[in-house]
Amino acid sequence: MHEPRPLRLVFWETTRQCNLRCLHCRGGRRSGGDLTGPQVDVLLGELAAMGRPIVIFSGGEPLLRPDWPEAARRAGDLGLPTALATNGTLIDAPTAARIAQAGFRRVAVSLDGADAATHDAFRGLPGSFSLALSGCGRVREAGVDLQINCTIAAHNAGRLDALYDLARSLGATALHLFALVPVGCGAAIGPSHQLSPEQYETMLHWVCDRRGGPLQLKATCAPHLFRVLAQRGDTPPAHGRGGALHAETRGCLAGVSVIFVSHRGEVFPCGYLPVPAGRLDADGGGIRRIWRDSPLLAELRDVGRLKGACGRCRYKQTCGGCRARAYAATGDYLAAEPQCAYVPQT
Ligand SMILES: C[S@@+](CC[C@H](N)C(=O)[O-])C[C@H]1O[C@@H](n2cnc3c(N)ncnc32)[C@H](O)[C@@H]1O
Repeated sequence: MHEPRPLRLVFWETTRQCNLRCLHCRGGRRSGGDLTGPQVDVLLGELAAMGRPIVIFSGGEPLLRPDWPEAARRAGDLGLPTALATNGTLIDAPTAARIAQAGFRRVAVSLDGADAATHDAFRGLPGSFSLALSGCGRVREAGVDLQINCTIAAHNAGRLDALYDLARSLGATALHLFALVPVGCGAAIGPSHQLSPEQYETMLHWVCDRRGGPLQLKATCAPHLFRVLAQRGDTPPAHGRGGALHAETRGCLAGVSVIFVSHRGEVFPCGYLPVPAGRLDADGGGIRRIWRDSPLLAELRDVGRLKGACGRCRYKQTCGGCRARAYAATGDYLAAEPQCAYVPQT
């Protein structure tokens, strides 16, 4: 069995409740049964003992979980760095102050278009763009680092420059581009919205062309960025533990250095691969055991098990393909990444 690398990033789905109805939401519409405060305390305590990974408070909409400030402070007291992933619509000035007081190092606000019409149509709520922009302003006024998350699909792939300019004008430190994964509600829009392999290639070169600029750029769920970087002779970005709030060391990090804990305590390799690696114990414990012993995670850590084009690819050590997209397309998480334009030489 492969010795697991250190756990660096934990996405915690604090709740499934949400005030938006995003077309692409990986979570779907099911809610209820959130981990209790005491269960969260046990989870956070165990994570702190595992080497203090960054904990991303995600959702659903995390600001709808009533005890988010207490949970964030508890994490901070344990030495766990925290970040908040939010749709931004609920951040007024008092909430921004509470976010700062709770110790979040960074707030990531999702903007899925550079204009109101595009964003609002994708997010299912008229006015959500304007509210999110206002939320971004409040975050900066409270002195908290701002990141913009943007899911890239057919509706906005042609507006990357405008998204970049918008993120800069909002005072963001980072822009993370999430390549759509056709899972949850996103499965229904996959055929109409997912980029073709060639369009992904264009997006990834766009990212490479802007590296080293004023905004930290990251392509999430787009591990082929690492193949493109290698083909261009560029060096991959290296982020130390105390540095940027994202771990970027190789393409797909699902189960390798990243884990996802669902609102009900199920543990998945990432938020987009709906194959459970295990479930927390009734008291909220067990994450260390799952991280160490899960056969699923062991499989994902072993690039020698990749199949098809990914298995033959000379870049499999640095890319590995998106395992969630492979699963969505074929039902096999070790199959080839379907949205990759590179044809390995045999
Ligand atoms: C699930 S949301 C939860 C946090 C918060 N409600 C928000 O809107 O950011 C976290 C991020 O995942 C992205 N996301 C959700 N479903 C996705 C999918 N199927 N493919 C790619 N990204 C997705 C969202 O756009 C968002 O940036």
